[in-house]
Order: sequence, then structure tokens, then C-alpha cells
Amino acid sequence: AQLQDLSGDKVKAAKNMAFVFDIDGVLVHGDRLIPEGKRALEILNGDNELGIKIPHIFLTNGSGKPEKPRVDQLSKILNSPISTDQFIQSHTPMRALAEYYNTVLVVGGEGYKCREVAEQYGFNDIVVPNDIIAWDPTIAPYRVFTDAERATSRPRDFSQVNIEAIMVFSDSRDYATDMQIIMDLLRSEKGRFGTVAKDPDSQRIPIYFSQGDMLCPTEHPIPRMSQGTFRIGLEAMYKALTGVDLERTVYGKPELATYKYADEVMASWMEQIHGDECLPSNIYMVGDNPASDIVGGNMYGWNTCLVRTGVFQGGDNDEVNPANFGVFENVLEVVTTAIKKEL
Ligand code: G3P
Ligand code: MG
Repeated sequence: AQLQDLSGDKVKAAKNMAFVFDIDGVLVHGDRLIPEGKRALEILNGDNELGIKIPHIFLTNGSGKPEKPRVDQLSKILNSPISTDQFIQSHTPMRALAEYYNTVLVVGGEGYKCREVAEQYGFNDIVVPNDIIAWDPTIAPYRVFTDAERATSRPRDFSQVNIEAIMVFSDSRDYATDMQIIMDLLRSEKGRFGTVAKDPDSQRIPIYFSQGDMLCPTEHPIPRMSQGTFRIGLEAMYKALTGVDLERTVYGKPELATYKYADEVMASWMEQIHGDECLPSNIYMVGDNPASDIVGGNMYGWNTCLVRTGVFQGGDNDEVNPANFGVFENVLEVVTTAIKKEL
């Protein structure tokens, strides 16, 4: 009976814990598996001493394709089933904006994938920079616009259209063109191309960015610039051209809105796994980037765990944003240590 009580307590404890995983630098590097990630997920999916599932969700600043193909790709790499119901990428919470704006400019990403993302989020009238160039190529004087791009774009007379908001969903593939078009809109009269507002501040349309990372690790030895640097460039240009500060909204880690959204996703995932929407008391955030994963998790009261398989290359802990649960070699070490502590 005592043994049964003990395992009952353990099951209770297991139901009161959960993990939030960063993806890039924790579970994978791009398309390449971090082997310990696969084992960590097996344990959480039930291959543990209690034989029960331990809830976990994924919270990534990644972007640029719809949720379903992204989780399918991840499931394949990690050889583990992953549902869109446990997955948040940088632009996922931006789906809530679809009800506020009818015509939006969507910027970033490969080809027209971000148009597809916006369609799936329920945005009604989606414009991408190629649609604008196809209407008036002089708008982007340095852009070489191919016939294939022209054939796949959706031009119309944009001098008759009010763009109501700008959504930067993913990294710009052409800073010169995207910055020119965004700046034209920010300086226009209520999002109308061909106009320049006398008082840009009062007529300016809102701009949203899906995340704020300055740098992103890639195959290149030195990390590459990301949406954060693109945004800072725009802010500086806007200030220089108008004299006023650009107001903007940023999503993704470490922004508060993203963590609140993660709570909602976690609660409904708890319902799916344990039949109870209650948020667990012990949430472990596993990340590789102190400036996004760890600072956000610390602010939000989660147990933060920094791994050495990604951006962080430092010593005992990060000096500016130390992980409160500690630094670990890899994600498997985090999962086994946290389970040992809780159960
Ligand atoms: O910086 C963009 C992206 O690669 C970060 O992904 O999963 O580390 O938040 P993640
Ligand atoms: Mg990462």
C-alpha cells in the first residue's frame, strides 16, 4: 500500500509539471537533429518510470511557413508525433489581428509562403511586396523583377487601396525593396501608396513584427542578422525622415503577449493530455538563447534551463540573463534532472 501511495504521489507530481521547448539550438539545428532531443521527447511521451505522458509545448521564434507543414517536418526529424495544438511559432499569436484589419501588407519569408500563413490565420485581403512591384516597378528602383515573379503576383491599382496595417512575419529576403515599400506606407496618408502625409504621426498605419531577435545562428560561422536588426534599421530611417519615433509592436520571445498566449496553449494541451485545463505549477523552459528564451521565462516565473547546444557559448551561466534552474549540456540532461527533482 505504501508503494502504491508513493507512485500515486509521483503521478500527482508528474501531472503538475510541464516543459516548454525552444526549437532551434535545443532540439534541432535547422533540419539537423540534435540527438538528445529525440530521447528527451520519448521520455516525455511515456517512456518513463510511470509510463505516463508529461505535457510539453514548443515555443519558437521561427517563422515563414504555416504551422502544419512545420510540425510535420519537425515530427519527421525528431521521430516523434507533434501536434499543431502544442506548437507556437513567432507569428502564431498574430492570428488574433485578423479580425481588426481588412487589407494588410505581409512582409518576409520565401516566395509566397507568408501569404499562405496569413490566409490560414483568416486575414481577408493580403498584399505582399511583389504585388506592389508588379503594379509599379519604379517603386523599387534596384529590384530585378523576374517574369516568373510577375506571373505569380497579384497587382491592382494600389493608388485606390488603403493598406490598414503592416505585418512583418519573417526575415526579409530583400531589405532594399521591403524597407522602401514599408517606409512608403508608414509615411503615407493612411496606407495609400502615392501619398505622403503632412503629419505622418497621426495618419500612420500600425506595424507589427513577429519577433525581435537581432541575430540568428546559421551555417555561416558568425550569426546572421534577423528581424530585430531589420526593425532597428526601419526605426532609424523613419526617425531620420520624419523626426518622430516609430511606434511598433513586437511579438515572439521574450515579449509578454507571447507568454500569455503560451499559457492558453499549455492549458488546452493539459486538457488533452490529463483531462484538466489547470496550468501546472512547475513549468520548465528549455532554451539556448539567454536574450530571448531565458529572459522571457525568468520574467514569466518559469524554471529556466539554458543548454549549450545553440547560441549560448558562455561559462557557468549567462552573466546578463542567468537561467534560474541552471545550465545543461543538452536538452536530455534538462529533462532527466527536472523529472528527478519533481517526482
Ligand atoms: O531567430 C529565429 C529562429 O531561428 C529562432 O528559433 O526555435 O530558437 O526560437 P528558436
Ligand atoms: Mg533557439
